[in-house]
Amino acid sequence: MLPDKVGRYKIKSEIGRGGMATVYLAHDPSSNREVAIKVLPREMMHNLMFRARFKRELKLVASLEHPAIVPVYDVGEDDSNQPYFVMRYMAGGSLADWIKKETLSLDDTALIIERLAGGLDYAHRKNIIHRDIKPDNVLFDVNNHPYLTDFGIAKLTESSISVTGGDPMGSPAYVSPEQAQGREVDSRSDVYGIGVMIFEMLTGQKPYHADTAVSAAVSHITQPVPDILTVKPDIPEQVATVIKTAMAKEKEQRYATVVELSNALSRAVFGEDYTIPKFATVSDRLAPPVPVRRATGWVAAGVLVVVGIVGWLGFNGQLPFLSPASTASVTASLTTVPTFTPPPTSTVESTATLVQATPTPIPIPGGADAFAFLSGNQIYLMNIGETAPIPVRTDNSAKSNLQWMPGGKTLVFTSGPCVYELDIETSGTSKVVCFTLQGTQDFFEGFRISPDGKLAAISISRALYIVPYDKTVLKGSITKSDLVSTGDFCKYSFYAIKDIHWSTDIEKIAALVVDTQTGGTEQVYLLDIDIPKCKTVGAVGIDRFPFERFSYSGSQIPSFDWNGGKLFLVNDTERNDGFGNLYLYDSETQTGKKINPIDSVCCYRDARFSPDGSYILFAFQRFDGAAIKLYYIPFADIDKGFDWKPIQGLDVIFSTPREKPQPALRPVSK
Ligand SMILES: Nc1ncnc2c1ncn2[C@@H]1O[C@H](COP(=O)(O)OP(=O)(O)O)[C@@H](O)[C@H]1O
Ligand SMILES: [Mg+2]
Repeated sequence: MLPDKVGRYKIKSEIGRGGMATVYLAHDPSSNREVAIKVLPREMMHNLMFRARFKRELKLVASLEHPAIVPVYDVGEDDSNQPYFVMRYMAGGSLADWIKKETLSLDDTALIIERLAGGLDYAHRKNIIHRDIKPDNVLFDVNNHPYLTDFGIAKLTESSISVTGGDPMGSPAYVSPEQAQGREVDSRSDVYGIGVMIFEMLTGQKPYHADTAVSAAVSHITQPVPDILTVKPDIPEQVATVIKTAMAKEKEQRYATVVELSNALSRAVFGEDYTIPKFATVSDRLAPPVPVRRATGWVAAGVLVVVGIVGWLGFNGQLPFLSPASTASVTASLTTVPTFTPPPTSTVESTATLVQATPTPIPIPGGADAFAFLSGNQIYLMNIGETAPIPVRTDNSAKSNLQWMPGGKTLVFTSGPCVYELDIETSGTSKVVCFTLQGTQDFFEGFRISPDGKLAAISISRALYIVPYDKTVLKGSITKSDLVSTGDFCKYSFYAIKDIHWSTDIEKIAALVVDTQTGGTEQVYLLDIDIPKCKTVGAVGIDRFPFERFSYSGSQIPSFDWNGGKLFLVNDTERNDGFGNLYLYDSETQTGKKINPIDSVCCYRDARFSPDGSYILFAFQRFDGAAIKLYYIPFADIDKGFDWKPIQGLDVIFSTPREKPQPALRPVSK
């Protein structure tokens, strides 16, 4: 019998049952969306140990936020002690369902593992071990993107038997020898699980045949690693070696990290000449030292990544990714993908040494874990250190003013006269407000929410309005005069303001002004504002640049950014589409200089400071070339002339030279 409700969630149907739990499709009335709810046996809550562990573990699991991990929305226990957790409903079925239908190709296998390895590596860095890697725990969304689910649940439910007692184990068919023996597990137990899963994806069979759970577990401890070639002789030998290495009995003999495993698999499948992306290389360096395979060096992942993206964008067949034939032309055009050589003094280098000593938290470069950007009217998300951008919003309207709300779960952007919010967990977009423009002389340009999320600075027809970012007021269609009708507003119309940035303390703004005093050239004005007193005290100009502070070419400022304190990044226009020389300006010393970090040449746009100011992200397009690349480099080293390498995986995304990526870095939440 179907329960009617669990917590506030209305149960609609049963999706399936696993070892311990039942999963239902449910409706969440408060967010009005379909969710999957996993209900654990009520009896478990009688056990005080379990209770404590349930709360602790699930909180941790719910904190995992990664595009390859099924998000957990809510965790709890209802009035009748029913423990449950609520997650995104995954409509695409499980990898186990896929395998039941047919075995997977080498390419699809490598691409799926590549994406999952990103999620798993992210969890490992947070010291969360999955413990139950198996095809049933890989779920697909409607777009056939794979996600891992059930992190740490094996530990929580102790659902399976352990041969010797001790640390609980996952499913016997996939369990690592150390887990089966009840010895201590670490991230390399998940490396083993991925090895078993690759075996099954390619052959449709599990590596050990066993009638009982215990005998399966015992096989993992005692039986030699099975040779996949005896089951499927046409598998390339290199791939067989990858599986053997991943499934080595002693964890010291395995790949040190899942990323190392996935890189090895991709090399075996796609060839030796692909490039490990910049940050994957860094994470390789951060891994505990393991002799195996180190000698192969940091060969790399560009080709794989390109294939992956083409696969996602172009999916229309039965499998999640395109077959290699259809992507051949793309990969061929990607001739040299350079490897990243960490410069001698960069932050990256120093964190590497630091982290090897303490395996716990790994500093995230620049204080950002991801960034969003625009291309072809689409919004993409990309994790720092990864190479596979994820499309999160497609429609055909041009977008601008991309920014994060505090908390990093919501993106705000503008399109036409409207402002939208995009929830990145659900990919749901909601319209916040549309401005009704009066006549052709009225236009909407800048929109920037204050760092605390409470105020919106809005430029309409070059007048600046600052109003509370309150969605009960800002809603529907409103006019300029509606903005001031509540009385709760500041209006600055002395300068013709196109765009704004906020200072960290919300007491200043940097405004992009079309300056009549300088004959209509664009200038950035640094203005002191006193919001509570704005009706009596106007904005006080503190500084203005480029003006006479530094020499600058042209009269326009296509993009600028502020670290919220004294530093600014600005670019001029040397070529089409707002790409030009990049300048750094210091408002304290009132000096600016051209920085052009890539080979000291033009052209750049949309440079951004990272949340902690220690990195900068920018788009680069060589003055005589076409391809747009994004770079993320340590701020301290921008003028050192290092041979910086672009973020990998974006070549297919930026297919025309006319893109305006407008990246927005997401602060790591702590
Ligand atoms: N978030 C989800 N969305 C859709 N189906 C799910 C979700 N989580 C689990 N399922 C399905 O529910 C069933 C039971 O899952 P579970 O209890 O985790 O057992 P197992 O992982 O051992 O199959 C499986 O068929 C699984 O595919
Ligand atoms: Mg499961």
